[in-house]
Amino acid sequence: MKLFLIYVVGLFCAGVGYGAEVGDFDHVQRNLQSDSTDQPYRTGYHFQPPRNWMNDPNGPFYHNGVYHLFYQYNPYGAVWGNIVWAHSVSYDLINWVNLEDAIYPTGPFDVNGCWSGSATLLPGGKPAIFYTGIDVKNRQVQNLAMPKNTSDPLLREWVKSTHNPLITPPYGTDPNFFRDPTTAWQGEDKAWRLLVGSQIKGRGTAILYKSKDFVSWSMIGSLFNSLAETDMWECPDFYPVGINSMNAVETSDQGEWTKHVLKASFNSHDYYILGNYDMKTDRFSVENDFTVSSSGLRYDYGKFYASKTFYDSAKERRILWGWINESDSKSSDIKKGWSGLQSIPRNVLLSKSGKQLVQWPIKETEKLRAKEVTALSKDLKGGSAVEVLGITAAQADIEVSFETTDLAKAETIDHNSVDPQLLCSSKTASVRGKLGPFGLLALVSEDLKEQTAIYFHVLKKNGKFVVLMCSDQSRSSLMGGLDKTTYGGFVDIDPRHEKISLRSLIDHSIVESFGGKGKTCITARVYPSLAIGNKAHLYVFNNGTVGVKISRLSAWSMKNARIAPISKRRKRKTSN
Ligand SMILES: *[C@@H]1O[C@H](CO)[C@@H](O)[C@H](O)[C@H]1NC(C)=O
Ligand SMILES: *[C@@H]1O[C@H](CO)[C@@H](O)[C@H](O)[C@H]1NC(C)=O
Ligand SMILES: *[C@@H]1O[C@H](CO)[C@@H](O)[C@H](O)[C@H]1NC(C)=O
Repeated sequence: MKLFLIYVVGLFCAGVGYGAEVGDFDHVQRNLQSDSTDQPYRTGYHFQPPRNWMNDPNGPFYHNGVYHLFYQYNPYGAVWGNIVWAHSVSYDLINWVNLEDAIYPTGPFDVNGCWSGSATLLPGGKPAIFYTGIDVKNRQVQNLAMPKNTSDPLLREWVKSTHNPLITPPYGTDPNFFRDPTTAWQGEDKAWRLLVGSQIKGRGTAILYKSKDFVSWSMIGSLFNSLAETDMWECPDFYPVGINSMNAVETSDQGEWTKHVLKASFNSHDYYILGNYDMKTDRFSVENDFTVSSSGLRYDYGKFYASKTFYDSAKERRILWGWINESDSKSSDIKKGWSGLQSIPRNVLLSKSGKQLVQWPIKETEKLRAKEVTALSKDLKGGSAVEVLGITAAQADIEVSFETTDLAKAETIDHNSVDPQLLCSSKTASVRGKLGPFGLLALVSEDLKEQTAIYFHVLKKNGKFVVLMCSDQSRSSLMGGLDKTTYGGFVDIDPRHEKISLRSLIDHSIVESFGGKGKTCITARVYPSLAIGNKAHLYVFNNGTVGVKISRLSAWSMKNARIAPISKRRKRKTSN
């Protein structure tokens, strides 16, 4: 394979000065972060607590100029256990201040753990949190918590309802499968509704509850009877999206201009379906049932689980967060002292076709872009690779779009080949095809032995072109004991009329990729042993036999996000 170099066309630094206070945060972050040689897998701009175990994002919301993120957290170690709601706040969803834990076991209704849940903004804007408590009998019950003092801009303290538990497992439901209440929505009848995830007779389900006062709840039944035989639906999410609209829709809105999304987490993935929800009858008519194969709709075809959306009234958008777990072993997590990341917050909309959602990193992510390199209109011959020079390849944001001119040479695949993940597993980056594999090689070592490939194949199936997107982790690390599964999904674009675009957010041990402008997303966790820090490289490659064209490439070094405990800030202030 020949190697070429891309010229640095534009080069500038966004000189954002850090204030004294903020500089202090930066210092705190760096001690634990990626620059440190014994912590090569800490990220620079993805959300993660300073140490310990983190899983599901919980109850995100926007209130009085401040974004709140809670998450499942073990205060005592790097493995799952002792679960509480940790709490962080932000003005921009990128830089965060970590506060004291917000919800932790205090009573018989949650003495064995405070598990996932959601926030609802009540009329007037006051937030209310519903979460699952593990009670004295180890049953899963639903509890309510409210801010102690709504004048506290950071809403640091939360008080629990004296009526807890408000919802207990209904007769016939396994008390171990009854959790993760959704954000509530309000119908025209002014009654509130929410869903609780469950499983009944070998099928996942979401049980609908209704309340006039937010305190006393009655069961209505399943929102929709899925025929898919799945594990319990964890962390259900149910919300409207606008048809043909760039603006998001508030959770209680519904009408001819909306469709509803039902998301459920099972089998280690976040699956969603679209349908029409009638708030008068509480009927949800779906377009398709859940499909467990990777040809069904998923938020992400790699790692992404237990996600949650919220409506951001400040910018009229719906934002999606997901938990990205580790691919290394428990013992490595204990050694590292931490486990789990949150995805970059993603803006979510209904695609123009109305058949699926599209996701894109929130605009604020671009504030971290520093040095830029660009290239225009370059041929990428079959069997070649081009290094992207001049940026920090281990902490970068890259957008590239490809043009395919020789579509007639696309390989034909069996019309029965429907599982994209299986296709990607046989068509890895090191197998030469025709129109593909072409894409990016991230976190590449000097000797090219380590690399994570995110790439496309243009294929022909039943006389039509299909675009396959893959993420191949098989060579991501020379170390063993890692999950190096190859991921894949189809991208709903027509290569005859559209360019094939890819954006990847690379951050030391995570590669979060958005294909076809966010139609297909794949997130991977990788642990290179050589391609660490400034030893990492980035390439554009084409390992097909047919040439493609890079119509445009832009790549940026990414600055560190500032994520630090509040106590440091206080200390700094008093010492001034
Ligand atoms: C509520 O918070 C405000 C603002 O931080 C503070 O001034 C006030 O003293 C607090 N009230 C109580 C009862 O703690
Ligand atoms: C987390 O990652 C492991 C290994 O990569 C995977 O097998 C597991 O299913 C994941 N867990 C969840 C809940 O996604
Ligand atoms: C391209 O294919 C060849 C032959 O299979 C393989 O040796 C090489 O590693 C591949 N290149 C990439 C970037 O995967």
